[in-house]
Amino acid sequence: MNRFTLPRDIYFGKGSMEVLKSLKGNRAVIVTGGSSMQKFGFLDKTVQYLKEAGMEVKLIEGVEPDPSVETVMKGAEFMREFQPDWIVSIGGGSPIDAAKAMWIFYEHPEVTFDDVKDPFTVPELRNKAKFAAIPSTSGTATEVTAFSVITDYNLGIKYPLADYNLTPDVAIVDSDLAETMPAKLTAYTGMDALTHAIEAYVAGLRSAFSDPLAMQSIEMIKDHLFDSYNGDKNAREQMHIAQCLAGMAFTNALLGITHSMAHKTGAIFHIPHGCANAIYLPYVIDFNKKECISRYAEIARRLGLSGNTEDELTDSLTSMIREMNKKMNIPCSLKEYGITEEDFKANLDKISENAVADACTGSNPRKISVEEMKNLFTCVYYGDKVEF
Ligand SMILES: NC(=O)c1ccc[n+]([C@@H]2O[C@H](COP(=O)([O-])OP(=O)(O)OC[C@H]3O[C@@H](n4cnc5c(N)ncnc54)[C@H](O)[C@@H]3O)[C@@H](O)[C@H]2O)c1
Ligand SMILES: [Fe+2]
Repeated sequence: MNRFTLPRDIYFGKGSMEVLKSLKGNRAVIVTGGSSMQKFGFLDKTVQYLKEAGMEVKLIEGVEPDPSVETVMKGAEFMREFQPDWIVSIGGGSPIDAAKAMWIFYEHPEVTFDDVKDPFTVPELRNKAKFAAIPSTSGTATEVTAFSVITDYNLGIKYPLADYNLTPDVAIVDSDLAETMPAKLTAYTGMDALTHAIEAYVAGLRSAFSDPLAMQSIEMIKDHLFDSYNGDKNAREQMHIAQCLAGMAFTNALLGITHSMAHKTGAIFHIPHGCANAIYLPYVIDFNKKECISRYAEIARRLGLSGNTEDELTDSLTSMIREMNKKMNIPCSLKEYGITEEDFKANLDKISENAVADACTGSNPRKISVEEMKNLFTCVYYGDKVEF
């Protein structure tokens, strides 16, 4: 038996935040990040709409990028005192992920972080509150996914909590919020979304349900990411929708080793998640094509890329990704990113072992050993073609 799970309601389009006025409840807690939502007026709007819905509103502000277990536990305690029946999270992937994890420990004070680290171990939610997510970046798609990425800074490890109980009830994909993203954030989060869609299209649990979502997303990202990077408002809206479609695909089809590698190198080399994915993706396609070249060729054909054979089409796809990176000032190798050879070599064993052990490796179309992962990282470092 297979499962395909999405939020019950997805509201989209400019100004769709207004739907908050129609939520039914008594108390809402808003979870948000540093200051961007406050600065651009979206936080005030959220408060106002929820008050118009007749709710008492309290705020949990200042969730840091890559949120910690401590932030989650503190937020859960606040919720236990306030007893909200709606959790409304607004901002980038970080505050929304933190809010999802707070939800677990609000509803289940008896549960520890260790209890829910493994996939599908989150207890039933929605006994106390429902969850609405309003993303302000166009990449993670956490508003529709079953994931919440929380970092244990004592161990220096990022944990992707994964359970369909964490899939929000309401996603509000309002591109007004994405218009304020700076160009670099637009580029990185957009390439994260492209990686989600391409990895989902070849991943272990891909299905007839996830394929069309992934393909549509890839097509929209190709057409709109560069204009969105340059600040075009229509393109920002298209990208906001495209990243959500990619999320709907990967939350069900899962991901692959581009994400495994990004998860395990992000903290060590200080590379933002989307930037790491953008660098690794073409190398991973070259590695995976032994197993699923026809799937990559299908993507290339749909995008109208050139090539008579599956090999030529797949080469066109990797060239297109490299070209997109170049146009948005994303480097093509770890060396070009600025990591020294000494630093790379000192960490190679560790990142290779950790990447193979990452939760996303299991759904990658081609199996990979630690030795192969080392070779793959070495190609990524020097910018060499993957031919094994
Ligand atoms: N849950 C999932 O399915 C999933 C998927 C991929 C990644 N993630 C996680 O999400 C996190 C990254 O999220 P992110 O890339 O959205 O970034 P983020 O939430 O960490 O935000 C990055 C920065 O951008 C700012 N920002 C956000 N929106 C803005 C806007 N509209 N205008 C101006 N500035 C804005 C924030 O204040 C912050 O300083 C990572 O922890 C990653 O591991 C989660
Ligand atoms: Fe991602």
